[in-house]
Amino acid sequence: MRLKDKVALITGGASGIGLATVKKFIAEGAKVAIADINVEQAQQVVDQLEPGSAVAVGVDVSKLAEVEAAVQSAVDAFGKLDVIFNNAGIAGGKPLLDQDPAVDYEPMIRVDQDGVYYGILAAGRQFKKQGTGGVIISTSSIYGEQAAELSFSYSAAKAAVISFTRSAAYELAEYGVRAVAITPGRVATPIINQFSDELKATFASEQLRNKMTAPEEIANVVAFLASDEANVINGTVVHVDDGYSV
Ligand code: NAI
Repeated sequence: MRLKDKVALITGGASGIGLATVKKFIAEGAKVAIADINVEQAQQVVDQLEPGSAVAVGVDVSKLAEVEAAVQSAVDAFGKLDVIFNNAGIAGGKPLLDQDPAVDYEPMIRVDQDGVYYGILAAGRQFKKQGTGGVIISTSSIYGEQAAELSFSYSAAKAAVISFTRSAAYELAEYGVRAVAITPGRVATPIINQFSDELKATFASEQLRNKMTAPEEIANVVAFLASDEANVINGTVVHVDDGYSV
């Protein structure tokens, strides 16, 4: 019960890595606000959990007012906020020279980059107001640190997540806040499951032990990072890619 009495807001909590983290956090004693653009799916998750352990919150993370309202919903439901996991994201891309910025660049930046900025801003203000400290964990990607095929916009957004994390740790330390970014490699979630079996086999082979990561394996690390046991991990990137980036 490493997260006993902690309150967390998990964006993108209705699916994949976010969903696995919701379940892990609750198993570790936390209360969770599941914030997702797909509020029906978030509510279905809540309905399957222990009553009183989670609430569903509809949010589009690319809109600051909605992220602020989601933080307020977590506070209204459970009295405070201790952890935000900025995890909602979209993937995909075209070759650079085929891109239409309005389709292939701006939406990616709005969700994967601005969404994390807004989460840090809204949670940071809440942590300052409470005077309790807090933990900010944000999902970057292996592509936040390297170039890859079809990843021009995604890589830019995910690199920004790493930069935001360093700067947030720097600026919010005076309020007792820690910030950490994680860089998943190939995780078996709906974002990846849309691809062919052949491509999935290629993805698996890119990790050193020739297997995709399960979302629960990422959730285990996020729960550790959110706990007081990770108290000295701050302003940095934790690679959760099973050796992809060696
Ligand atoms: P997923 O598609 O299973 O989950 C993403 C969730 O985010 C969905 O529930 C979706 O409704 C929600 N979402 C999308 N746009 C949103 C918005 N504007 N506002 C609020 N919620 C929104 O995908 P997965 O794999 O769990 O992805 C989670 C994070 O992990 C993303 O940031 C993704 O970029 C990152 N990631 C995933 C990897 C993988 O191999 N699956 C690898 C590296 C990073």
